[in-house]
Amino acid sequence: MAKRSLAVIVLAAGQGTRMRSSLPKVLHEVAGKAMVRHVLDAAADLKPQRSVVVLGRGMERVASAVAPAAIAIQDPPQGTGDAVRAAMGALKGFAGDVLVLYGDTPLLTPDSLKRMLAARRGKSDPAVVVAGFTPADPAAYGRLLLDKRGSLQRIVEFKEANAEERQVRFCNAGLMVLDGARLPKLLKQLSNDNAKGEYYLTDLVHLARVAGWDCRAVEADAIDVMGVNNRVELAEAEAHLQNRLRRAAMENGVTLVAPETVFLRSDTKLGRDVVIEPHVVFGPHVRVADNVVIRAFSHIEGASIASGATIGPYARLRPGADIASDAHIGNFVEIKNASIEAGAKVNHLTYIGDARVGAKANIGAGTITCNYDGFNKSHTDIGKGAFIGSNSSLVAPVKIGDGAIVAAGSVIVRDVPADALGLGRGQQVEKPGFAARFRSQKQKQKQKQKKK
Ligand code: UD1
Ligand code: CA
Repeated sequence: MAKRSLAVIVLAAGQGTRMRSSLPKVLHEVAGKAMVRHVLDAAADLKPQRSVVVLGRGMERVASAVAPAAIAIQDPPQGTGDAVRAAMGALKGFAGDVLVLYGDTPLLTPDSLKRMLAARRGKSDPAVVVAGFTPADPAAYGRLLLDKRGSLQRIVEFKEANAEERQVRFCNAGLMVLDGARLPKLLKQLSNDNAKGEYYLTDLVHLARVAGWDCRAVEADAIDVMGVNNRVELAEAEAHLQNRLRRAAMENGVTLVAPETVFLRSDTKLGRDVVIEPHVVFGPHVRVADNVVIRAFSHIEGASIASGATIGPYARLRPGADIASDAHIGNFVEIKNASIEAGAKVNHLTYIGDARVGAKANIGAGTITCNYDGFNKSHTDIGKGAFIGSNSSLVAPVKIGDGAIVAAGSVIVRDVPADALGLGRGQQVEKPGFAARFRSQKQKQKQKQKKK
């Protein structure tokens, strides 16, 4: 198959009013990534030479999310055919294949796109290849009308379709591949003389047939081409994508004890023989190396976890948490912007922020790095093999040397040298017999009150 050049046009000028949102529809996220980015990433697998996203007026904020794709502004939006026309300015001189996608179909896979490109390169040299699907409820989708030889004859929009055409269950998913050399001629002939008064992209099929060119439909997976129009569908898309991510993780050697309770991101990287217990949520940018155990109810974002580490249950790793091999992060521990070096243990009820915890150091229960004075963040450095007694506050900036011990309950405001003891707490006083005297005094008072 000769390699032909490819351009991608993503249509995203629609208002998406059913989302009831101040955010443009295509910026709503699925598995933590904007829908339009999912579409562009699926297309990127085909290595297009050019990509253009068509936006409406006032949607310029989408531009940064789609970079480096070019944007074209369609103002006012007058239909899907008009949207493709708006993109043509960015494709001047391009005569390869043109793939038209919708910005609100986040479940597209490179595979379904490749099958369409393959069909476009078929013997009959079709001018248009359309993705068709057979939804459970064909509702208001455009219907694909095939001729006896299986070529695509026409797409009829639901509003235009007669009763017989509405019986057809093979529907237009919306994505198309067009021959860029023949596309300008077809676009010129579009009219808006129809039920919606719009320029329908779907009319290109009939126009191509009139010009004597073949058109084809390729059956696509209904989930792959699912469009999102409201928040209920957004949640459905999320569920489908989560299932895909979970399945891919398991196929790559990750144990998910209860897959349906683990939430991943598109960019979550999980090594081999990672075990993830129930109810774990991943935010963006997490890398987990081999043989890590993530125990139940942990929340992890922006963190890197090296091999053999154990996280949770109930751990929270925030951006910049860098957990080295064989480290232990236990229950109710929060780590932010801190490196926990090899074999260190932070096992219970602790906050470590803006810090380094040296190799094999042991951080006692309830330790807090006091990293913020209301204005600035300061750093805490804990040396290797140091031992921080329970319920200590380390007031940053402060440095605990290698092998030093901090006594439990200390408030440490100055550096503790290597191998020294740092003890910073109020002096204890004992008063012999005080408790017994105190109790008998109170009892006497009570008896007096009763007699009165
Ligand atoms: C379109 C198809 C229909 C198909 C359905 C699949 C046409 C005429 N109809 O209908 O056959 O079954 O998709 O979902 O193409 N857009 C623009 N500019 C516009 C209009 C739309 O950029 O002027 C974008 C929208 O943002 C959206 C996509 O094009 O991403 C589809 O538009 P939409 O109005 O949802 O098309 P449908 O009427 O659903
Ligand atoms: Ca639609």
